[in-house]
Amino acid sequence: MTGKNATQVLAADAQGIAAAAQILLGGGLVAVPTETVYGLAARADDAAAVARIYTAKGRPDFNPLIVHVASTRHARSLAHWCERASVLAEKFWPGPLTMVLPARMDAGLADAVTAGLPTVALRMPAHPVMQALLGQLPCPLAAPSANRSGGVSPTQADHVRASLEGRIDAVIDGGECARGLESTIVVLRADGTWQLLRPGPIAERELIELLGAPTAITSSIEAPGQLASHYSPGKPLRLDAETGHADEYMIGFGPVPGHCSLSPSGDLVEAAARLYACLHQAARAPQPRVAIAAIPKEGLGAAINDRLRRAAA
Ligand code: TXA
Ligand code: MG
Repeated sequence: MTGKNATQVLAADAQGIAAAAQILLGGGLVAVPTETVYGLAARADDAAAVARIYTAKGRPDFNPLIVHVASTRHARSLAHWCERASVLAEKFWPGPLTMVLPARMDAGLADAVTAGLPTVALRMPAHPVMQALLGQLPCPLAAPSANRSGGVSPTQADHVRASLEGRIDAVIDGGECARGLESTIVVLRADGTWQLLRPGPIAERELIELLGAPTAITSSIEAPGQLASHYSPGKPLRLDAETGHADEYMIGFGPVPGHCSLSPSGDLVEAAARLYACLHQAARAPQPRVAIAAIPKEGLGAAINDRLRRAAA
């Protein structure tokens, strides 16, 4: 099924969602819009389906997947829940927050979902299409971003097709993703400490307000996906550029102009939403190099700069 055939494009309506549910039930792969980026979904309780995600993306098998759930009740059946998780779920779910919690061993998830870790990453997405799909399935969905491993994440159905056409069964075209950056990932440890593993749309400051100070433990085991090189447009990328050189596709911001701009008015929300679309455009442009204007480091700027550092690495 997966691999040889063309990838179906499904409409983001009741019929398209029902067709996607059938494909997923049968162990297939469907790219689905979420409020952050498009996810490449498979049923999380089916080892063969989850294995197909790793194959389609060319993803290293030590890098675990986020499990998407329809409700907090469902999340509780997959992890050892705690009061802090309730506080965060109450405030940020459904939405762009992923919580890493101690996994319940009897949850029935395929082993490859957690890549052998004793923890599981859980998110309840806010996008109506992903929610409708979860509502029609008897199981949660494992879904990494729907791009080849190491590449730029997709915020439009065309981005998914450019990288995974023929390697996945279908994509639901739900237009552009509103947030444009992957979820914030936070680990809530059994010993009561916590830490940000990936900056995202929910700022660390908002988490500190609810949880108090984080405890940094440097561990590549706890954050296996934070590879130095990631989100690459496939060309050298120069950061903090004031002007573009002749051989560069320039991405502007605020008063700094370019071939495209993250946000002419200097708005970080708009910049986050447009970041990957601009990187995809840069990848397709004739220039062999890419340059991008400086982006402020505060708030959402922290998450944008995190992605840019890795895209340039
Ligand atoms: O917004 C998002 O989070 C999107 C949409 C589709 O939901 N998904 C996404 O998935 O960004 P992906 O696979 O591109 O990134 C998931 C990250 C990886 O860095 C992975 O290492 C980390 O989550 N992760 C998953 N399970 C983990 C765990 N048990 N402990 C620590 N990190 C984990
Ligand atoms: Mg990704």
